[in-house]
Amino acid sequence: MHDRSESGTPIHPVYGPEALADFDPATELGEPGAFPYTRGIRPTMYTTRPWTMRQYAGFGTAAESNARYRELIAAGTTGLSVAFDLPTQMGHDSDAPLAAGEVGKVGVAVDSIEDMRVLLDGIPLGEVSTSMTINAPAAVLLLLYELVAEEQGVAPEQLTGTIQNDVLKEYIARGTYIFPPGPSLRLVADTFAYCRERMPRWNTISISGYHMAEAGATPAQEIAFTLADAIAYVETALATGLAVDEFAPRLSFFFVARTTLLEEVAKFRAARRIWARLMRDRFGARDPRSMMLRFHTQTAGVQLTAQQPEVNLARVTIQALAAVLGGTQSLHTNSFDEALALPTQKAARLALRTQQVIAHETDVTATVDPFAGSYAVESLTDDVEAEALRLMAEVEERGGAVRAIEEGFQKAEIERAAYRVAQQVDSGERVVVGVNRFTVDVEDPYQPLRVDPALEAAQVERLARLRSRRDQPAVDAALERLRQAAAGSANVLVPMREALRLQATVGEVCTTLRSVWGVHTPHETF
Ligand code: 3HC
Repeated sequence: MHDRSESGTPIHPVYGPEALADFDPATELGEPGAFPYTRGIRPTMYTTRPWTMRQYAGFGTAAESNARYRELIAAGTTGLSVAFDLPTQMGHDSDAPLAAGEVGKVGVAVDSIEDMRVLLDGIPLGEVSTSMTINAPAAVLLLLYELVAEEQGVAPEQLTGTIQNDVLKEYIARGTYIFPPGPSLRLVADTFAYCRERMPRWNTISISGYHMAEAGATPAQEIAFTLADAIAYVETALATGLAVDEFAPRLSFFFVARTTLLEEVAKFRAARRIWARLMRDRFGARDPRSMMLRFHTQTAGVQLTAQQPEVNLARVTIQALAAVLGGTQSLHTNSFDEALALPTQKAARLALRTQQVIAHETDVTATVDPFAGSYAVESLTDDVEAEALRLMAEVEERGGAVRAIEEGFQKAEIERAAYRVAQQVDSGERVVVGVNRFTVDVEDPYQPLRVDPALEAAQVERLARLRSRRDQPAVDAALERLRQAAAGSANVLVPMREALRLQATVGEVCTTLRSVWGVHTPHETF
């Protein structure tokens, strides 16, 4: 048996009819676009509309990122995806001491409505859907987006896009949390309620398994811990009095796609089936949209190699195929040079071209869920589903995702899986082409993209100018109203929007919330 899978679930050299002896297509498969959505959430899938080609991008100042977005739209991307720098993700302004050295590095610096205005300049917000990878301060960036759209004459109810807004996975992996779990979940629930009223087409959360997978989670762990987080968000929203069909249709998900294509296709199919049954049978959802697991996929950054980087073009192609054959709604393909530095424009274009070749030159979009009925893939789908359900039951036994996170359960499980893979790579049992086999003596020279070091000083100066020009007493009064809302039970997004409109900064809004809710301090949990 080849244990070529990521999970360690064995993949048999041959599958035959006996593999599907007790497989009931009517209940396990269903039709495309019908419960339990194993074959995909829409009847026609890519035969009528390809997935959204949504390349994650952003670095430096808002002006530099705006230029990259225009390049990507010109090259054919069909959705925007904003990467923010760490100070923005952590709710600090570019001139905060903690921000030093990080401004504009792993994403774009957005401190205020002015930066958001520049970031979106010339982009028709009534036509483009925009994803923003922002978690703890997601509500703040969403409101800045809404305010700039309003200036463009686009009403909030027309806006389409997504905020990642998934703080629970930040406690498990990635780490860009600010507030303790309780206030964080309250802010997520406030955002759900706000969007239901004002931005009904906006996807309020992108519940993510990607970062757990990048930290080493197996496919089964990735979907199990992501769906367990989703259960916590659903329960939080229900506790605020929202009915499940009032918010569940706008929940979305985010997963990785790895080179182990067969197992990844099985993973996506299993995730849709688990979610559909969970929402109907446990939460009583009646709206079919509440039962459809809609997801974005990004190819596996952790599988990119710095050695012989062009080989990554082959990896990303296979990973993108896994996402497409698995029925993704939106896809980001990594650039081949990302293990070395921020992607060059040419590498970013090649990554997009990879998607366009799959969409327009292959026949995998000519039919829905081509693996349906496959002895191997249906067996693997069952295997991944069974393992994921077992892990979800373990989380439930610990009192649900938040309690399990506090106990360190998910983190410990993922680290064990990561360690096993690392041992296999070190021993050579798991081949990484160019790294532990098929290496070269001398690597080709490579010129990475460099971010201008003067960028940080320029951004800090813009921020000082903004503060000197605004109506400070009005900003102070608006921030005080926000503080009072955070201390009470009113939805904080309304006073937050008004403070941001007056040019309060991301850091000032988050500091006001920190003054009421405190910050999460990770305690050693295992
Ligand atoms: N038949 C009928 N209608 C169809 C259709 C079909 N075959 N295909 C699509 N449509 C419709 C849909 O119904 C939808 O309309 P609606 O909004 O009214 O329902 C519209 O066309 C758009 O289709 P989708 O919603 O499927 O596609 P989107 O791209 O708009 O949305 C999503 C996809 C997954 C639901 C959304 O949440 C999304 O875009 N997520 C992206 C998340 C993302 O990019 N994250 C980046 C993370 S990077 C990161 O974390 C950083 C680092 O750490 C990795």
